[in-house]
Amino acid sequence: MSQSFRFAHVSDIHLPTFIGDCSRPGAFLNKRFFSALSWFGNRRNIHHKTVTDHMVKDLLARAPAHILVTGDLTNLSLPGEYDRAAGWLQSLGTPIDVTAIPGNHDLLLDEGGARDGLLQLAPYMRGDGQQNARTFPFTKRKNDIIFIGLSTAIETPAGWCSGRLGETQRDHLREVLSKARRENLCRIIALHHPPAGPQKPRGGLEDIETFAQIIAKTGAELILHGHTHCSSMHTLSGPDGPVPVMGVASLSVRAGKHYPVSCWHEYEVQRVQGVWKISLNVHRYAGRNLPTTLAAQVILNSA
Ligand SMILES: [Fe+2]
Repeated sequence: MSQSFRFAHVSDIHLPTFIGDCSRPGAFLNKRFFSALSWFGNRRNIHHKTVTDHMVKDLLARAPAHILVTGDLTNLSLPGEYDRAAGWLQSLGTPIDVTAIPGNHDLLLDEGGARDGLLQLAPYMRGDGQQNARTFPFTKRKNDIIFIGLSTAIETPAGWCSGRLGETQRDHLREVLSKARRENLCRIIALHHPPAGPQKPRGGLEDIETFAQIIAKTGAELILHGHTHCSSMHTLSGPDGPVPVMGVASLSVRAGKHYPVSCWHEYEVQRVQGVWKISLNVHRYAGRNLPTTLAAQVILNSA
């Protein structure tokens, strides 16, 4: 029996965007205009920093060995937002202990400003031994566990929020998964868009079928995503049995907003007689000044 490894999964933080971030009108002559309307019209009343702070305090008190952030730290991909996102990641821990990947809101437009902004988050979006580059997939190894970070963030037309891995990333993913399988590692894949289950209209993973074919051949022990703002469980077929595909709710949604309330997921991974055993505790926001409730406990045994 190996020593157990406990880590946290959070997603879709949507840290606040302020009017002061929008001082350059030229930045809004594109789809960002519609996204800004959505944020200032509605979404800013759904995502609350007080909820995020409460959940982070709860999470840090449980002292997980690692924290995984599966994207959408920002809303409009504006410079001020990246500054705050970088500070927020630093508040969780160092890049040794925290891993992040981008979501569609973190690359709303594939332009210089957004790419520069993402560079500020790059220390958290790099693998072991990568000093400067921010390439996907990247890998971080923790004992016999390997985190595999992917990017599905692409620029899409107004009204769309779909994602894509692309051929190059998929090819590398296939190699990474095959090598880690030969080494008997526990392979944990992180991507923003859900690779199984219902897809958002105009917001799904474009290469979902090819991704499923990769998993069918190489397998994985656990696949984690955000994007849907719901905690969810689906599976993909792997060579050794079903592979759990787990989504986590947004970290910042308060109760009573007709959206699933904030959750963070706590995983425990252990190898028992050669088989990876994975369990999940779902911690749900219960209100200001209240401790989180344990909403679900799930055992996800890989075969
Ligand atoms: Fe999101």
